[in-house]
Amino acid sequence: MFKDKQIQVSRREFLRDSAWAAAAAAFAAAFQERVEAQQKKSQPTNLAFQHNEPATHSTQRLQPVNIGFIGTGTQGQTLLQRLVRIPGVRVVGVCDIYPPHLSRGLQMAGAQAMSYRDYRRLLERKDIDAVIIATPLHLHAPMTIDALQAGKHVFCEKTMAYSIEDARRMVQVSRETGKHLQIGHQRHYSPIYAHAREMMVEQEVIGKLVHVRAWWHRNNSWRRPVRDKRYEELLNWRLYRKYSQGLMAELASHQIDVINWFTGTTPISVMGMGGIDYWQDGRDVWDNVEVIYEYPNGVKVVYTSILSNQYDGYAEQFMGDKGTLLLTNEKDGFLFKEPMAEELGWEEHAKKAAGKGGTTGLVLDVTATKKKGTGAVIGGRKMEAGYETKDAYMLELESFVNDVVRNGQKPLCDAEVGYKAAVAVLTANKAIEEGRKITFTPDMFQV
Ligand SMILES: NC(=O)c1ccc[n+]([C@@H]2O[C@H](COP(=O)([O-])OP(=O)(O)OC[C@H]3O[C@@H](n4cnc5c(N)ncnc54)[C@H](O)[C@@H]3O)[C@@H](O)[C@H]2O)c1
Repeated sequence: MFKDKQIQVSRREFLRDSAWAAAAAAFAAAFQERVEAQQKKSQPTNLAFQHNEPATHSTQRLQPVNIGFIGTGTQGQTLLQRLVRIPGVRVVGVCDIYPPHLSRGLQMAGAQAMSYRDYRRLLERKDIDAVIIATPLHLHAPMTIDALQAGKHVFCEKTMAYSIEDARRMVQVSRETGKHLQIGHQRHYSPIYAHAREMMVEQEVIGKLVHVRAWWHRNNSWRRPVRDKRYEELLNWRLYRKYSQGLMAELASHQIDVINWFTGTTPISVMGMGGIDYWQDGRDVWDNVEVIYEYPNGVKVVYTSILSNQYDGYAEQFMGDKGTLLLTNEKDGFLFKEPMAEELGWEEHAKKAAGKGGTTGLVLDVTATKKKGTGAVIGGRKMEAGYETKDAYMLELESFVNDVVRNGQKPLCDAEVGYKAAVAVLTANKAIEEGRKITFTPDMFQV
């Protein structure tokens, strides 16, 4: 388990080596005709498609953005559902090798979308401005690199890549081609995270940061039911090391990324443990990980992720000598002041929430970041009215389409940000695997 040297997946090798590719290709061929026939028949009754068409005076002025979508599984569909609602967006190509997902993706994209089983054919289209990639981890690098080299801006889901070498190459190719690469750590676009960061860093509400805890606890196997055993690895790729880097990549990377972002630094060292201790069902990635990172100024980060108890869900907790900032389940923020901390001036206006051990927390309110009459500014970008009601997936996609593709701005969560998170979590896996503490050198975080 986790003993093999990291697998490098080259673009030429990945299709050949993927155990699922042959099975999926055969199955896909049988479905292809049906999908294409359905596409031809389908009228633009798809509401989502109708919503995104430039129908009003304000949207008519917008430059249309043509997007190719690769990987329409769970996360792909989450993104696609939001993407098609962005004014001026046309999803003109959809690619997946699993027919039910391809079919669903096409349905969501609308009648104008063409169907692809080989993403390289999609990339050949000159009318595609940008590509969104939501495939299993080991495919992020080959697909992203090909897309950048084909002249497309890319949004690639997290974790950035299967190996540090792959992630490094992605950064380099983005620079070489001048095409932007955004990584799907959506918290960078989340109003509550932006607000919490401002409270902690600019308003110093927790005083001096001394300790961080973060966790992601679930009580399920992470396994998907598979009727046709040929699809076991395609559908349960997360459970197999040749495609996946387990809990650190699938869950922790979001949270370690937030810690890098809020502290403005990267870790100094890491050590940890992991095991397959509960779900002994043939998987070869750990079902629990316990990791300690050391950050500058003596700050330790204690991170746990388990799949056998869901108490406390998932959260990031920043602890300072004047208070604790708690972000829970990616939506709520609280401040628990230390007993001796001075008044901040807004306590009496804040909603209160009960904390552990009889403590009372102040509920963080994202509209507090709003400057009167101007809308809020997140990461230097002005938010449009109603931003508070949108989720971070919608906001990251709007930013990708409007700021990055239309206006050529650097993504808030760009390749360098994604790279730092990837280095931190992939090195934690290495530390666990080798049973030792690994010290990061500054050059490990630079490309
Ligand atoms: N940002 C988030 O909050 C978030 C949440 C969930 C997943 N994710 C990330 O999204 C990615 C996908 O995760 P998921 O849960 O949607 O997985 P999934 O298995 O549901 O979807 C992956 C899709 O990729 C397709 N695919 C595999 N090989 C392909 C190929 N060669 N060409 C085209 N399509 C191919 C599969 O058939 C499948 O439909 C992962 O990197 C995951 O970490 C991010």
